[in-house]
Amino acid sequence: MIEKINKLLKQVEEFRPKAVAEVEEFRVKILGRKGELNDILEEFKTVAPELKREFGQKINQLKTAAMNKINALREELENSGNADSEVQIDMSRPGSADEIGSRHPISLVKNEIIDIFGRLGYVVADGPEIEDDWHVFSALNFALEHPARDMQDTFFSEKNPDILLRTHTSSIQVRTMESQKPPIRVVCPGRVFRNEAISARAHCIFHQVEGLYIDENVSFADLKQSILYFAKEMFGEKARIRMRPSYFPFTEPSAEVDVSCNLCGGKGCNVCKHTGWLEIMGCGMVDPNVLEASGIDSKKYSGFAFGMGVERIAMLKYGVKDLRLYFENDVRFLQQFDSVI
Ligand code: PHE
Repeated sequence: MIEKINKLLKQVEEFRPKAVAEVEEFRVKILGRKGELNDILEEFKTVAPELKREFGQKINQLKTAAMNKINALREELENSGNADSEVQIDMSRPGSADEIGSRHPISLVKNEIIDIFGRLGYVVADGPEIEDDWHVFSALNFALEHPARDMQDTFFSEKNPDILLRTHTSSIQVRTMESQKPPIRVVCPGRVFRNEAISARAHCIFHQVEGLYIDENVSFADLKQSILYFAKEMFGEKARIRMRPSYFPFTEPSAEVDVSCNLCGGKGCNVCKHTGWLEIMGCGMVDPNVLEASGIDSKKYSGFAFGMGVERIAMLKYGVKDLRLYFENDVRFLQQFDSVI
């Protein structure tokens, strides 16, 4: 029996496996339920009592040596990267592609609007979302007690009513006029905030792109032509526009622009409420008071401004009828707007 144990000890010592699988095989052979060690333990039962101590120690020596060796070999092989050496690696398999996200439809439409006006020479101007009364209202010819301030339900700061969340990006136009000399040609994209109940047609946060063009001899005809160009680029060559008189404190005259319904081609459907027309923006000639408030000589210069809601344009372009979808970030909705840009 001692001889057998010594033989196994030698085997343990000389064991040089190449892969983890071999180590496991070896473990089963020596330490497994039907392994060599168990056979020895069976034999041990028949050993004479006076020899038990010596034999017992020898058996323990074998068990410890085998376990230590197996653990050490396992660790060594796993760390050296040979753990998978049994697994065939197929070098011709294609790599796993990373899933690429897509742009949000609001960003797509916003970028497209910027792009279209970019072709007419407009550059992007930026400004803060947290504004003061001057840039959102007063500089834009909203008289202090004028009811037009109620047209846009404003979020005011509780601590300081002079501080508010901008209700339109016209505030950027004011900042531009204050800091630049004409000719000015800017588009002002950004988030705006109005205290409105959230529904399919309204939200308290939405996006606008407004525009401003100031130079000598700018006329209403220039405004109309620019908007027509925009409508055709955005909605297709067949798009037509019409202008209806409107009111904004900062423009005079002012107009609301409708584009022919691109879903029914102007014949009338339930999206355009059977009128054939869809409202897309407000616009007008910049009121001389507004030019003067920002230090621009209204005798020398004139200009026009326009402003539109990005969600609204996106709704009309993609036929999405519920505005809330743009804010819920449901990937099933967003994935439909695959894009590379
Ligand atoms: N600022 C207006 C709004 O938010 C839009 C507008 C811009 C109208 C410029 C006319 C001229 O409703």
